[in-house]
Amino acid sequence: MNDAFDFSNRHKDLMARDEEYVLGWRFEPRIIFERGAGVQLFDIDGNTYYDLSSGMMSLTLGHAHPELVETIRDMADRFVHQSSWYTNPWAIEFAELLATTLPGDLKMTNFAVTGSEANEIAMRMALGATDGFDICSMVRGLHGGSLAAEAITSVGGARRRGLGPLSIPARSNCIVPAFYYRAPVDDSDQWDEISLRMTEELIEYTTSQEVAALMLEPIAVPGGMIVPSERWLKGIRDIADRWGALLIFDECQLAPARLGTFWGFEPYNVVPDIVTFGKGLSAGFAFCGTVTTPEIAERTRGTKGLPWAGTYPQDPLPAAVALKQLQVVLRDDLAGHAAKAGAYLETRLAKLTDKYENIGDIRGRGLYRMMDIVTDRESKEPDPELSEAIRYHALAEGVVMIVVKNYARICPPTIVTEAELDDIVGRLDTAIARAVRGDPVPTNISTSSSLATNNSAKRN
Ligand SMILES: Cc1ncc(COP(=O)(O)O)c(C=O)c1O
Repeated sequence: MNDAFDFSNRHKDLMARDEEYVLGWRFEPRIIFERGAGVQLFDIDGNTYYDLSSGMMSLTLGHAHPELVETIRDMADRFVHQSSWYTNPWAIEFAELLATTLPGDLKMTNFAVTGSEANEIAMRMALGATDGFDICSMVRGLHGGSLAAEAITSVGGARRRGLGPLSIPARSNCIVPAFYYRAPVDDSDQWDEISLRMTEELIEYTTSQEVAALMLEPIAVPGGMIVPSERWLKGIRDIADRWGALLIFDECQLAPARLGTFWGFEPYNVVPDIVTFGKGLSAGFAFCGTVTTPEIAERTRGTKGLPWAGTYPQDPLPAAVALKQLQVVLRDDLAGHAAKAGAYLETRLAKLTDKYENIGDIRGRGLYRMMDIVTDRESKEPDPELSEAIRYHALAEGVVMIVVKNYARICPPTIVTEAELDDIVGRLDTAIARAVRGDPVPTNISTSSSLATNNSAKRN
C-alpha cells in the first residue's frame, strides 16, 4: 500500500487496530510512534524522523528534555492533581514569571486546560468588562474547536458545517487580514489602508455596534502564516479603542520564543488587553491560560462564569513542568537562538524557493516558517494535492510535518541546531523534488488532514 515504507507486521497490525477502534484525524500513513528525543521521533520499528511540528507546536524544548524529565519524575512522586479551588507553588511562580515577559499591566492569569478554553475565557472577560456583545475575529483566524472558539474561527469553514445552531450568534469574522501575498493590490501599504478601512466598515455594518472585543492571532498561522506590518496591527488597536472594545491576542501558536521574540506580538509595540497562551508554553501538557490586567480581572470577577475553574487547570504536575520549561527558555535565551537559527533557516529555505517554482512564498519569522505551495508563481493558485505529496515524501525521508491545504509548516523544536536544519532542509529538498516530478503518493488527500476534506480546498 505504501511503497516508500516498509512496516513490520506489528506496525501494520497497530495501524489497522487504530483505524478500527480509535476515532481521530490521521495523516497517512498513520505511523505509530513510541519515543521522542530532542528534535527526533522514533516509530515502533525503530525508524527515526525529525519532528517538524514540535508535537502539536507544543514542545519548545523538544522531546524528553532532561530537566523536564527530572521535573516530571519528581512531581509524579509528589503531587499530580488537586482541587482547582486551591493552588500550588508552581502555578503561582509560573504566573509571576510569565507576567515579567509581558508589557503594560498584563499580569493576572486565569489558567485553562486547552487553548480553546483560554480563548473562551478571553471572550467572557471581554463581555464582562465592556458590557459589549459582539466578538470580532479575523478572516482566516483559528481559535480552537470548542463551540464558541469554533464560531469565531474562519479558517476551515467546512469544519463548522451543520454547527450553526450551536454557534454563538454574537460574532463577526470581520477583521480583514493583512495577507499581502494574496491581496488584490501589490502594494502592502495600500493593502494596510484598504483592509483597515474595510474592517471598520464591516464592524459598523455587520455587528450590533456593541463590540466587546477584536480578537485575533497577531500572526495568523493556520490561515497562512499572515505576518502583518506594525502599521496594520497598530491600526487594529486604534479600531478597538474607537469602538470601546478590548483587544485580544491569541498567542497559542506563537509563544514562547520560536519567532525570535518571546511573544509573537512583541516587535509590534502594540499592547493588547488580554493574551491567551497554550501549546508552546504548555511544554506538551494541558497547561494553557488567559492573561489580563488586574483591573479587567477585578471588573469581570463574578460575572460571565469568571474566574474559570473546571477540573484540571493549574494542576501541580503540568504547572511544575511548564514552569521549568519557562525558566529554561528564559535562562538559555531561546528567543535569541530562534532569531539566529531562524535567519540561517531562512537562507537555506531561500535556496529551495529559487529551485522550485511551486514554492510560491515562504512566510514566517525565526524558527516558524510556512511554505505556500502553488501551481505556479504567476497565478498563485493553491496546490493542496502537491502539498500533500510533499508531506508524504517528507515523511518517507524521515521528516514529520503538518500540511493543511497548500500550507506546509516548518516548526522544529526551538532547540534545533544549524547542523540539524541543514539535514532537515536537505531532506525537504529531496521530498519536494519527488513530489514535483510526480512520484506516486499511495494515499488519499481527502482523508489526510482535517481541513483537506473541504470541497472548496482549492478556493484559497
Ligand atoms: C491559534 C490557535 N488558537 C487556539 C487553538 C486551540 O488550542 P487547543 O487545541 O489547545 O484547544 C489553536 C489550535 O490549533 C490555535 O492554533
